[in-house]
Amino acid sequence: MKVLVTGGAGYIGSHTVVQLIDAGHQPVILDDFRNSEKSVIFRIEEIVGKEITYYNTDIGDTPELKKVIESEKPEGIIHFAADKAVGESVENPLKYYKNNIVNLINLLDVIKGYDIKSFVFSSSCTVYGTPDNIPVNEKAPMKRATSPYGYTKAAGERILTDFFKNKETNLCLLRYFNPVGAHPSGLIGELPVGIPNNLIPYVVQVAAGIRKELTVHGGDYETPDGTCIRDYIHVMDLADSHVKSLEYSVENREDLLLNIGTGNGSSVLEIINEFEKVNDIKIKYKIGPRREGDVTKIFADNSLIVKKLGWQPKYSLADSLRDSWNWQKKLKL
Ligand code: NAD
Ligand code: WQD
Repeated sequence: MKVLVTGGAGYIGSHTVVQLIDAGHQPVILDDFRNSEKSVIFRIEEIVGKEITYYNTDIGDTPELKKVIESEKPEGIIHFAADKAVGESVENPLKYYKNNIVNLINLLDVIKGYDIKSFVFSSSCTVYGTPDNIPVNEKAPMKRATSPYGYTKAAGERILTDFFKNKETNLCLLRYFNPVGAHPSGLIGELPVGIPNNLIPYVVQVAAGIRKELTVHGGDYETPDGTCIRDYIHVMDLADSHVKSLEYSVENREDLLLNIGTGNGSSVLEIINEFEKVNDIKIKYKIGPRREGDVTKIFADNSLIVKKLGWQPKYSLADSLRDSWNWQKKLKL
């Protein structure tokens, strides 16, 4: 299948492009590199041993976007392009509403009338807020978003559901838990921008000596060790779930709403301990106050994707932490 991958030069997009090629598909990247680097394209090419078609285009640029859709006529679209920093979205909500909502609508306007068999959307477990039951399954109600970023994911799901109703296109809404890790080659991974907000990027920067110590946000939660629990999923497994969703939705002409997580929860202290053990490096940390908006505990019930698509996480938490560190070591900062 020819698949347009918006945001294909980004963290999750670049790994998905690799997996699409491995599965015999033909990805076309559309990215304006606002949060990625052109060199990612060459790095993907190095991994897959093939040239990649890409367009340096903003999804908000209607005339350019029209040209790309008209000349490529993709059969599938995986839509990653968005802004993703929760804190920044609180400071600058309009940036998020514009890129994650207005530009999504723009993309939908442009693809009207084209024969798109499947559209895959990057949603997030953030739509569950603090779930009533853990592990959380897809039937759990969405909770009121605590950040503009979170709201754009809930709104994106709704806009897409309304738009594709009674249309031939099958819609896959994928709710990611916490993506971590990097390609085992160390050639692609998550690019750090400024001081990391997310746990693993911060931990690897402490390991690299870029940051002095990690602050654990809260040690008095109602969890076994007092720190928050999350479901950390290797980006290669996450990427693979996109390929399997796309294929399944086209073959079975079915919409999908899926949690993409490992089904296991790890606390912040467990992450630090495992990182130290796997990579044989000490992580200096202190326990600080709670971070506003943090959910105490969440991890996925992934039984639906396992049953429907036969997808299974292949990478362990140890693999994720080893690959994150391997990627950091190869980064020229
Ligand atoms: P990323 O920033 O690494 O990748 C996004 C890519 O989209 C970047 O290459 C950026 O340059 C591009 N982009 C952004 N706006 C664009 C526009 N208007 N036109 C063209 N290109 C544009 O982010 P990521 O971590 O790979 O996330 C991908 C998607 O997954 C996002 O929608 C994000 O909200 C969602 N998501 C991410 C996480 C996470 O923790 N990383 C978790 C849940 C959901
Ligand atoms: C994980 C745990 C922190 C940094 C966010 C978004 C979510 C999704 C994934 C996009 C928490 C703790 C962190 C630090 C710490 N993104 N932590 N010290 O908050 O689960 O999810 O990224 O869709 O929408 O909200 O991920 O990596 O920031 O935090 O103690 O310096 O690590 O408190 O318990 P989070 P995270």
